[in-house]
Amino acid sequence: MQIFYAIAEAQEYLKTQQKAGKTIGFVPTMGALHAGHISLIESSRKDNDLTVCSIFVNPTQFNNPEDLKKYPRTLEKDCELLEAAQCDVVFAPTAEEMYPALPKLKFDFGTLETVMEGKFRPGHFNGVGIVVSKLFHIVKPDKAYFGLKDLQQVAVIRQMVSDLSFDLTIVPCPTLREADGLAMSSRNMRLSAEARALAPHIHQLLELAKDKLLNRESSAHTQAFAEDYFRKYPEFELEYLEIADFDTLEPISQVNVPGKTAICMAAFLGGVRLIDNIVF
Ligand code: PAF
Repeated sequence: MQIFYAIAEAQEYLKTQQKAGKTIGFVPTMGALHAGHISLIESSRKDNDLTVCSIFVNPTQFNNPEDLKKYPRTLEKDCELLEAAQCDVVFAPTAEEMYPALPKLKFDFGTLETVMEGKFRPGHFNGVGIVVSKLFHIVKPDKAYFGLKDLQQVAVIRQMVSDLSFDLTIVPCPTLREADGLAMSSRNMRLSAEARALAPHIHQLLELAKDKLLNRESSAHTQAFAEDYFRKYPEFELEYLEIADFDTLEPISQVNVPGKTAICMAAFLGGVRLIDNIVF
């Protein structure tokens, strides 16, 4: 496995590989890798000749400096996991390498970012757009793999790829869960034992909310039910629970039209911000 820290060196190597006719699959990450990330590497390996994983905790997508400081950084262990997963290339630049100066360009994703994560993390998707477009230009992948736990991120990146005619395919991949239903996330390693024991309530609530909507309860009733549910567990601070169209992310008041519905939520648990969703 090759590891590059410099943009120019990664580009030179990848250009040679592309000239030799190899297809490139790309898995962008912020490190602290878990089985969910490894499943993206596996999907990429199946589809492409060469798999590239980037590890970069992107400062421009953190609206909360404390969250950026506390984000887990485990590069050595990440590289061991990637080596075992037979990833071909790791690109792990420093912040100075990626941002010699802060970009002046700003992304505005319109209605895709005025809800949910975009509403509660101002500037977050601008930072995601900047870094993902920079990484796409550096790696020039044929396919890029993203986990559906970050459903809104997938929608935003798809929009960016379409609006800017990036010559690549976005491959959305299913969320991996622990045996008790908790969605795998790098942030889970920051949960205390007590918080970890409570964390599966997020997925349990999403399943209950899904049943309510399928039983023709309105979104407003389902949202009130969710707020009530978490009142029983005051350790959680529910930030939002939205019932939205899978593609447009626009709110749905009642699930009565064919098409995919997403229930998305974010909650703080013991100071750690967790997100999850369910699509049906
Ligand atoms: O999903 C993530 O880990 C990040 O948002 C990404 C796509 C690697 C951009 O920094």
